[in-house]
Amino acid sequence: MNLLPKDKFGTPFLLLAPMEGVGDACFRKAMASIGGFDEAVRDFLRVPKNAHVKSLAAVYNPHELAPIPLAAQLMGSDLDLMAEMAREIERLGAPRIDLNCGCPSNTVTGRGAGSSLLKTPDFLHQVAKSLVSAVSIPVTLKMRTGFDDTSLFKENLLAAQESGVAYITLHARTKADGYTPPARWDLIAEAKATLRIPLVGNGDIFTAEHALAMLQETGCDGLMIGRGSVIDPFIFRKIRSHFTKEPFTPKWEQLENYLKVYQEAIPKEMPIRNQISKLKQLMGYLFKGSPALMEKRMLVLTSQHTSPQAFLDFATLLMKENIEKFKSA
Ligand SMILES: Cc1cc2nc3c(=O)[nH]c(=O)nc-3n(C[C@H](O)[C@H](O)[C@H](O)COP(=O)(O)O)c2cc1C
Repeated sequence: MNLLPKDKFGTPFLLLAPMEGVGDACFRKAMASIGGFDEAVRDFLRVPKNAHVKSLAAVYNPHELAPIPLAAQLMGSDLDLMAEMAREIERLGAPRIDLNCGCPSNTVTGRGAGSSLLKTPDFLHQVAKSLVSAVSIPVTLKMRTGFDDTSLFKENLLAAQESGVAYITLHARTKADGYTPPARWDLIAEAKATLRIPLVGNGDIFTAEHALAMLQETGCDGLMIGRGSVIDPFIFRKIRSHFTKEPFTPKWEQLENYLKVYQEAIPKEMPIRNQISKLKQLMGYLFKGSPALMEKRMLVLTSQHTSPQAFLDFATLLMKENIEKFKSA
């Protein structure tokens, strides 16, 4: 089965990236209100030693964005627990399970999970295989190009492929690179040339033009976008419009509705201060990407509003005055 089908216009499969802390259910639901992506990946579910698998898995709702599928991502290194967790995730109805081999966080890497797996291709293979053997749904793997450097890049790609994963998503940076630009798209092209299984390219797509350029430069089979979608939630729609040849101009009402969906999804039991921080975090991204908005960004981030609604009204008005940013491709 082709898990990364193109649509009838030739648009590649588009994925919303997992983004722990930023890309939570509020963000995913708001993004789904605008649409344009084929599938989303939930931020990682950490599987620590002695984990109670059922309660860990309970936070995952595969139907959260229905009809858009939401894949689960697992991060851990205990083979038995990872397999048990995978079975539980499958039981909940997941369309796919993704293995995290890219998270740079030290608390994670310290335990030999996330990007640490890139130090030992054999062990990466074992962890991936434990998932593949445990479930009948597709298992995929998301990785960086290496840990400190790219010396094990090919070994890791091949180890992943040999484990039986259905495809690989490559964030084209090493763990040591963090998020320092530019992402090494040349290594996405190299991975594509190395692998038999499909490849999703990821890293530094901030506009529809970037998406087209990555496709052209790398030949990858699908595209995953993270930060670019927080900065411009219309990005997937804009990419699609390049393929359908139907111009797409974002409407203010769509952005307004996006913010409404986001705010309504914030759990009301969350302390007010945290609700405002959350909205500020989202606005911090939305106010990036155009000089006019960047000027207003500090005003938004330092605002002293004490109610989420008052803050949202204030930021929304500033954004409305600068809607032009979203109209560019
Ligand atoms: C705040 C944040 C949280 C992230 N959390 C995850 C995660 O849970 N799992 C994962 O595989 N990648 C995670 N990533 C990496 C992204 O999925 C993606 O690979 C990376 O941001 C590069 O893509 P982009 O340039 O389109 O943002 C995270 C990135 C950010 C910025």
